[in-house]
Amino acid sequence: MADLFSETGGAPVDLNGVKVWRGAVDRAGQEAILADLRAVAKVAPFRRYMTPGGREMSVRMTAAGAVGWITDRSGYRYDPVQPDGAPWPAIPDSVLQLWARYSGVDQPPDSCLVNFYEDAARMGLHQDRDEASFDWPVLSLSLGDEGLFRVGQTERGGPTKSVWLRSGDVALLAGAARLAYHGVDRIKFGSSDLLANGGRINVTLRVAR
Ligand code: SIN
Ligand code: FE2
Repeated sequence: MADLFSETGGAPVDLNGVKVWRGAVDRAGQEAILADLRAVAKVAPFRRYMTPGGREMSVRMTAAGAVGWITDRSGYRYDPVQPDGAPWPAIPDSVLQLWARYSGVDQPPDSCLVNFYEDAARMGLHQDRDEASFDWPVLSLSLGDEGLFRVGQTERGGPTKSVWLRSGDVALLAGAARLAYHGVDRIKFGSSDLLANGGRINVTLRVAR
């Protein structure tokens, strides 16, 4: 595969310790990853999950890897199978290349969450803390429409910083910022032409087990 990465990506932007590399993946790389994610979604369709509290999430989700993050009335968790009992597809090589380039660790990820945001979708401030160890980083890639990404502190209620994540941007939650609160306040629907029908995809890689 051709190199997915843009040569223009310089020093990352710092949001309360969370690093964001602007334009890390160029357009051709975005299209290659998108094609791989479409293949994932054929095997593991996007679903709308229920929170443990009984609210339907606005973001639709699927996953790849040995385990996939899911939620229903019985809780948030990583599950080795989809809600219908089928195994998750493998994490695409294109996505693994991102991890190799930006995660800063040798341990490979075992879980790849794929979020799809339509116009009205959002994600409230939360910590990623369903993983067995918080020693490994969390890496994400944005594709398609811009999303307003908010990063707080490692405790609830502290000051936050926001940035519009654009298609091709990569974010890393690592070290002291691994447990930083973060969320997506809104989507600038139609701001990118990567997805023909609009919307935003965020791909998150984690070492879950
Ligand atoms: C997440 O925290 O799961 C998603 C973050 C994003 O969509 O950028
Ligand atoms: Fe998260």
